[in-house]
Order: sequence, then C-alpha cells, then structure tokens
Amino acid sequence: MSPKIEDIRAQFPIFKNKIFLNSCSQGALSEAVEASLHAHIRSWHECGSPWDRWVEEYENARAAFARFIGAEPDEVAVVASASAGINSVASALHFGKRRKVVMGEFEFPTMGQIWLAQQSRGAEVEFLDAKEGRICADCYARAIDDQTLIVPVTQVCFMNGFRSNIESIVQHAHERGALVMLDGYQDCGTRPIDVKVLGLDFYVTGVLKYLLCPSGIAFLYVRRDLIASLTPTITGWFAQQNPFAFDVKHFDPASTARRFEAGSPPLPNVYCVPAALKLLEGAGYAAVAAHIQTLTRALIDGARNLEIKIKTPLDGVGPLVVLQMKNAEAMVQKMAANNIVVSNRMDGLRVSFHLYNTLDDVGAVLDLLKQNPDLVVHE
Ligand SMILES: Cc1ncc(COP(=O)(O)O)c(C=O)c1O
Repeated sequence: MSPKIEDIRAQFPIFKNKIFLNSCSQGALSEAVEASLHAHIRSWHECGSPWDRWVEEYENARAAFARFIGAEPDEVAVVASASAGINSVASALHFGKRRKVVMGEFEFPTMGQIWLAQQSRGAEVEFLDAKEGRICADCYARAIDDQTLIVPVTQVCFMNGFRSNIESIVQHAHERGALVMLDGYQDCGTRPIDVKVLGLDFYVTGVLKYLLCPSGIAFLYVRRDLIASLTPTITGWFAQQNPFAFDVKHFDPASTARRFEAGSPPLPNVYCVPAALKLLEGAGYAAVAAHIQTLTRALIDGARNLEIKIKTPLDGVGPLVVLQMKNAEAMVQKMAANNIVVSNRMDGLRVSFHLYNTLDDVGAVLDLLKQNPDLVVHE
C-alpha cells in the first residue's frame, strides 16, 4: 500500500491498546469516520435542521458508493440494513411459474429468513448443502432450473470464510433466466468490485464491517433495466419520485433505485461513507487485497505448522480465516485477556484481516494458539 502501514494504523486509535482482528464483525473506527460523525453533529448544533445540506450528504454517500462498485448513483438505494434492501426486492417479485429461490446454507441467516417469509406469497426455497466446507458452482448449476426466480449468494461465508465462485454462479443462473443477488457484506471493502463486470442483478451490502462505518446504513444496487419492472410493496415517502410533494393520496415510486428505499435516511451514517471510502481509496483497493492475502497466508501457514485444523477451504480464502477449536469461546476469552479482539461462530475461531493489520498481529495470534493446545482441534 502506498501510505505506510504504520501511518494507516495510526489513524485507528484502537490499535494503541488492542490488536484488532474482528473486522468480520465490525470494522475499526478511524479518526476520519469519527470526524465525519462530529461534522453531522456540528451541523445539527449550528443550524438546527439543515435539511438541504443533509439531503446533499445523503446523495454524496450514494454517489461515493456507486463509484466504488462501478455503478451509477441512480442504480443505488440507500437503505437501513442489508435486510431492508433484500426485503424490498423480495416484496417486488412475483412468484408464478418461476417461484424457486436457490441458495446455499452458507448465507447469513437473514437471507434465508427473508426468502422463507416469502413462502406465503408462493416462493419455494431450496437450500444447497455444503460439502467439506464448500458449496461449489456445480451444485448451483444442478439446482438452478427454468423455475428458478432468484439466486441469492454470499460472496464470503460469515461462518467459515469460504469464497463463492460468483462468476460461474452468475453464468449458470443467467443461462437459465434466473436473477442473482450478491451479498457482499463479508467482502466489501477488501478488494476492487465492479457489479457490471460481474453481471449482477442485485448487490447488497452493509458498511459496518470492511467498509469501516457504523451500523444503520446499507446499500442496494439494482441493475438499471430491472428497476422499472419492480415495484416494492415495502416502501415509504423516500421511495417516491418526489418525496417532498407530500402527497398522501398518491403512490408514485421513483424511476431510480431510490424506489427500494423507505423512510428518512440515516443522516449521521451518510456522513461516514465518503470518509471511509476516501481512506480505503487512498490505500488502493488492489493493494488492500494484496496486503490481506499476505496476512491470511501467514496465518494459514502458521496454523499448519501448529497442525491446527483450518475450517476455511484453502482454494477460496477471503479476508476471514476460521480455525477449528475444541472450545472456541474460551479461546476468544484467552485472546481478549491478551488484548487481541477476535470472535467465534460455533467451533470456529474467526480471525479477519484488513488494511490496518500486520504480520506482527498474525504472530501474536499464533503465539497464543501455541500456548493453548488444549483448546485447539489438531489435524
Ligand atoms: C454476509 C452478511 N449478510 C448480511 C448480514 C446482516 O445484514 P443486516 O444486519 O444489515 O441486515 C451480515 C451481518 O453480519 C452478514 O455477515
């Protein structure tokens, strides 16, 4: 990365006291994002209700995110959570001849739950089982047919860090006329992304993990030529063509992806998005990806030397590496007692890397793993 790692790390005060390796849960707070929150508070203090300025900031956040993913601002909805964006799309779909929703069991629970809730509207949900920590593109190819309406797929699995083969899944889905919704939450911010090159129909992500922002805001990209054909029934005044018409008697969804929004935008949060993206862009997304790969490789090599069972399939590693523990909670506590912040899901110890982590961080984790062989599952 062109700014030195020490200079990047110095912008994240948590590293004064802790080794932070839990971006898969919540990204670290930078001084720039903190300052952006203060900017919102200052505008509120000083001007009381500067709505014009706040709406401008909301559009700035949309434009900054759109640029980052290779889309136009009118293809992006600013929503309160990934769940809100997914629900909005689900509410706009009709489950007729095409009624199947095909997804892997690696999806974040919200994805399963939202589409299962659509069963009362005619959806049929088919889950694909993982084998040896993977759900291969061929599994999707076998399940997707001419009755498949949509294929939601996570880019990286929150549970074991497996990276899905998005290009192949998109190809199989489109060959059979099905839509693809990519959930980028566990990856977004760790590498370049271009929704057009990937040929996605929908892309949804929150910003609180590798996009280094607080919760309360997420984004939904909708392919331009789909927008007019979809009318969400989960809606609100900010989804209307002109929210400021204040016309209670008309439902007039925006011609842009704003039709997938609902109520008042999350104003403090919109201030954060351009600040965080500027920081990441300053480092360079390709450089961030290369840096993360160096760190994940170092952890994997170190874990192998210690003969620790690695749950993340090695042919598809993202920013998250998961190691199998006999008692993952106890290991998280041990790490915490040594000022290392990690997390667990079931028996997996989750260690996740971002632009601010170093090989010394990896070394600190490996040292503790070595000191606690009784908590670890060996090969
Ligand atoms: C892959 C993935 N999708 C979705 C979510 C949840 O999204 P939200 O809480 O914004 O609805 C998470 C949260 O951890 C996640 O990891």
